[in-house]
Amino acid sequence: MNFFLETLKVTGLFFYYLLESLVFLIVPRRKKDVSGEIVLVTGAGSGIGRLLSLKFASLGSTVVLWDINEEGLKETGKLATKNGAARVHTYVCDCSKRQDIYRVADQVKKEVGDVTILINNAGIVTGKTFMDSPDSLVEKTMEVNIMAHFWTYKAFLPAMIASNHGHLVSIASAAGLVGVNRLSDYCASKYGAVGFAESIALEMRDMGKNGVKTTVVCPFVINTGMFDGCEAKWQTLLPILEPEYVAEKIMTAIRQDQEILALPRSVYFLIALKHMLPVKAAVIFAEYFGVMSLMNAFKGQGKRD
Ligand SMILES: NC(=O)c1ccc[n+]([C@@H]2O[C@H](COP(=O)([O-])OP(=O)(O)OC[C@H]3O[C@@H](n4cnc5c(N)ncnc54)[C@H](O)[C@@H]3O)[C@@H](O)[C@H]2O)c1
Repeated sequence: MNFFLETLKVTGLFFYYLLESLVFLIVPRRKKDVSGEIVLVTGAGSGIGRLLSLKFASLGSTVVLWDINEEGLKETGKLATKNGAARVHTYVCDCSKRQDIYRVADQVKKEVGDVTILINNAGIVTGKTFMDSPDSLVEKTMEVNIMAHFWTYKAFLPAMIASNHGHLVSIASAAGLVGVNRLSDYCASKYGAVGFAESIALEMRDMGKNGVKTTVVCPFVINTGMFDGCEAKWQTLLPILEPEYVAEKIMTAIRQDQEILALPRSVYFLIALKHMLPVKAAVIFAEYFGVMSLMNAFKGQGKRD
């Protein structure tokens, strides 16, 4: 295609997509049917993972639940059955271990079938200054929060590519879009998760696999216990999010094939500011909005070292 035609095509498509997204702001997109899908949720034993599992269960999906916490997993399994899941399969899996992921993934393929919606949700946080973070916790954070995404994709993506059908969901964080003091390993892992998810989305597009959808989720603090004690100075701008609200937003994003979801909406604005302003000006804003003091009162889910 010559330069003139290509420029004309790109200009036309650019305005078409802008208009399309404006229309979808007013007219909600159709939500896809997920009954009959095989949905794997890592970290399904509590918090957002449990809520997502129950929501897919109530929509008639088969749910495959992974967690390292056997008790929490059992409880989610029971609730998912009650909620009407087509089938419920629970597996204890340590997502910090590649071999464990591959072993359990093989078991899932044999016992349940090919996973069609993969939700990488398991996550942990150290919550200390970098110099106070023990090497073992830094490594664990990277293994659970990002390396596990590589290994689960290696295990389940080939079948999605072969059938040109599937959905890859990455529960990252707003801390994957902006660095935060006392969260260096967490931010590094979540930036990794965002970069990985975006790259795979482009690979699917480049391969013509438009049936394999992707969603990356970047929420601010959620009231699940993981970030207990933390709060931003300006609650109106950055409120602590309720888990039910976040899970419902994630479900809508998945069912509408939305590529990125940041919560609350102010995160889009703050990230745009960060990229437009000089660093010193952006840091002043980070202090003003309380991002720099966010972790001061961090308690989390108990002692980790
Ligand atoms: N809570 C927040 O403020 C917040 C904000 C942004 C993003 N997130 C992300 O959302 C996701 C869910 O977090 P949550 O708030 O529901 O926390 P949560 O602690 O309630 O849930 C995390 C789950 O992951 C499981 N898990 C931990 N290590 C594991 C391992 N090695 N193998 C398998 N499972 C393991 C835990 O047992 C737990 O059930 C995480 O990825 C988290 O980073 C949370």
